Amino acid sequence: MDELSFEPDDSLYRNRDSLSEEYTPAEIVGRDSELQKYHSALQPVINGESPDNIFLYGKTGVGKTAATNFLLKQLQEDTERFDIELTVIDVNCEGLSSSYQVAINLVNKLRSPENQLSKTGHPQYEVYEYLWEAIDELGGTVLIVLDEVDNIGEDDSILYQIPRARSNGNVTNARLGIIGISNDLAFRENLSPKVRSSLCDRNISFPPYDAGELEAVLQQRADVAFHDGALDDEVIPLCAAYGAQDAGDARKALDLLRGAGDFARAEEADVVTGDHVRRSREEIEREEVMDGIADLADHQQLTVYALATLEAEGNTPARSQLVYQRYETLCDSAVKDARTSRRVRDFLADLESLSITTSGRQNTGAEGGQYREHQLQHDLPTVLSAMSELIRRVGVHHSIEDAIEDSNQVIV
Ligand SMILES: Nc1ncnc2c1ncn2[C@@H]1O[C@H](COP(=O)(O)OP(=O)(O)O)[C@@H](O)[C@H]1O
Ligand SMILES: [Mg+2]
Repeated sequence: MDELSFEPDDSLYRNRDSLSEEYTPAEIVGRDSELQKYHSALQPVINGESPDNIFLYGKTGVGKTAATNFLLKQLQEDTERFDIELTVIDVNCEGLSSSYQVAINLVNKLRSPENQLSKTGHPQYEVYEYLWEAIDELGGTVLIVLDEVDNIGEDDSILYQIPRARSNGNVTNARLGIIGISNDLAFRENLSPKVRSSLCDRNISFPPYDAGELEAVLQQRADVAFHDGALDDEVIPLCAAYGAQDAGDARKALDLLRGAGDFARAEEADVVTGDHVRRSREEIEREEVMDGIADLADHQQLTVYALATLEAEGNTPARSQLVYQRYETLCDSAVKDARTSRRVRDFLADLESLSITTSGRQNTGAEGGQYREHQLQHDLPTVLSAMSELIRRVGVHHSIEDAIEDSNQVIV
């Protein structure tokens, strides 16, 4: 077992953790105009005036949280310098699906550990009263940051209550402002008009990064993460180009770079190369497809399962009709009513657009008709392991008994 002993290995990485989600960069690059707007929206705080309410929106990975942490840290340092009392309460709304849950969370952040509210069983108005009480007790300026606030969906009353708390006389002893951050562009459009007019004093949009901006983000992080000379010249431009294709998401670009570094480290390479980036990308795509399959509804998964069994028998590309017949057989074993063949054709089209399968059109020749043929876009063990839960319920089709053995080797 000697070859499995562990030794520290830092020939490539100087600080791998700096590529992770938790790391706060010392500087925000490539977001100058957004930071400028954000800065001016926060200016009233340092003037000792009532804060503006701010709403940030943009897709995931475009720097909304990073910019907020960065500016609020700066603001907190500067308010200390100018003797202004500022409290920032930051809540990530992931997993909180209503204004009620967010309000309880806020109250509990402001209360001592012995004095926490239980998660349920309070009338809504009472929770708000506790919140106003706690805010008034703090005094000074209070900024409430609700990150990923789109999680609360249509139940958006808190986005009305907080901006109105002062004019409604609920809060008298503190200046109160709210910063809402949303990953979902439609969320802002769907806010009730009442909320929109009170919340959105300042809207700041964070567009996707272009390849040049991503290069700047990656370069800055790579300087911290890797030793000098550890990256081939093409590595950062390549990660940036892929990142720009992937909705301009800096998080994905950073994950790609870390994946490439990990491949290089695993094979004890002296430098990270473009090839490592490409392999990292394949790996990430594979994981995404696995998640995509795991998230499908049962009948769509059964359609994938049908195609997988045909593939195991060497019968792909397979015509829609054949996929349908196998699908019916599997529905029988699953004791489920089969959907119509038209419906399954729709599933097959969906699966293709999700990059789970590929399909092509063939001519039947003499009759002049056309038909579609389908096959899996990823290797069989990967697909089977993504569906393991369904297969456990439906049973292992005889054609895939061997492949199932292999799929157990696939690390999910
Ligand atoms: N302009 C930037 N400069 C440096 N790092 C950035 C920048 N934008 C994003 N990042 C990094 O990219 C990742 C995703 O950014 P984040 O702010 O979490 O995105 P969002 O909140 O918009 O989903 C984080 O690790 C963050 O540190
Ligand atoms: Mg965020």
